[in-house]
Amino acid sequence: MTARVLVAGATGVIGRALVPLLRARGHHVTALVREPSRAAGLALDGVVVADALEAEAVRAAVLSARPDVVVHQLTALRGPTAEGFEPTARLRTEGTAHLIAAAEAAGAERMVAQSIAFATAPRGGPVLTEDAPLYADAPDPGWALTTRAIAELERRILGAAHLSGTVLRYGTLYGPGTLYHRAGAFGGAVARGRLPLPEPAAGITSFLHVEDAARAAVCAVEADTDGVFNVADDDPVEAAVWLPEYARLLGAPPPRTVPAQLAERLLGWFTSYQLTAMRGAANDRGRQALNWKPAVSSWRTRLADD
Ligand SMILES: NC(=O)c1ccc[n+]([C@@H]2O[C@H](COP(=O)([O-])OP(=O)(O)OC[C@H]3O[C@@H](n4cnc5c(N)ncnc54)[C@H](OP(=O)(O)O)[C@@H]3O)[C@@H](O)[C@H]2O)c1
Repeated sequence: MTARVLVAGATGVIGRALVPLLRARGHHVTALVREPSRAAGLALDGVVVADALEAEAVRAAVLSARPDVVVHQLTALRGPTAEGFEPTARLRTEGTAHLIAAAEAAGAERMVAQSIAFATAPRGGPVLTEDAPLYADAPDPGWALTTRAIAELERRILGAAHLSGTVLRYGTLYGPGTLYHRAGAFGGAVARGRLPLPEPAAGITSFLHVEDAARAAVCAVEADTDGVFNVADDDPVEAAVWLPEYARLLGAPPPRTVPAQLAERLLGWFTSYQLTAMRGAANDRGRQALNWKPAVSSWRTRLADD
């Protein structure tokens, strides 16, 4: 069955991959954008304009698009720094509330929203399911804000009165446009030998190619399953393994090692946490419920791709 699909965040890293896949499946795709010029070059069936933080504008835009399904891929993450956390948290709380209210007013049936697989607390593991608690008590204020915003987004999506909802908890994104691309902030630092490896580096990362994130969103649009699903590759991996291999693939020297106690000062809280303590995400539930599987089943083949 084809549907009228409204994509909020169509001009983002995932959105740009998602729009052509949806249209190739025969869906009618409208982009909700805050700046129309950002949609230039995207093949779309329609464009509506609103800032996601402005309730009335969102309502008018969504009503005019008349969607069956609304896909929420809004973030304001621009780098490995904390500066995107606060605006992204607002998009996940206020922005989500505006989209749900507008989607319900427009008579939409479903919402699909982006969340994070690595927002779970680093307890148990090493690879956690969707049942693991989120890290709302993270010691870093930015990450605590992020996980609380994720929790609110998920509660709102699953609790919407007149919509069914699917939450996609994406793993660590890599591929064109992401931080891990060699031109991205993280990839560039590793390529220049500027990212040290804490010792021990026992943090687990579950990676996800951006094309697989987009494919999972198509599956979620077409599925009739509600719930929260991890969307990550099949190969969760310790930093002690992936960071040296990533450096090798980028043609960089092996990362120098530093004692784990120095990692936070040298790398910042989040990267230090990722490399030393983060847990991986099991993808079994999403694979089954969404009828999705990663085309890139392991980061090992494509992490340094252009
Ligand atoms: N999950 C992770 O692994 C993770 C963690 C940290 C960082 N990142 C990085 O974050 C990016 C994730 O890709 P993404 O597609 O989720 O995000 P993205 O590329 O930042 O795209 C976000 C989308 O939201 C839109 N948007 C932002 N604020 C808006 C507002 N107020 N009103 C309307 N639209 C608004 C943007 O529109 P505009 O085009 O107008 O900006 C854009 O279309 C990657 O670069 C990734 O490396 C990912």
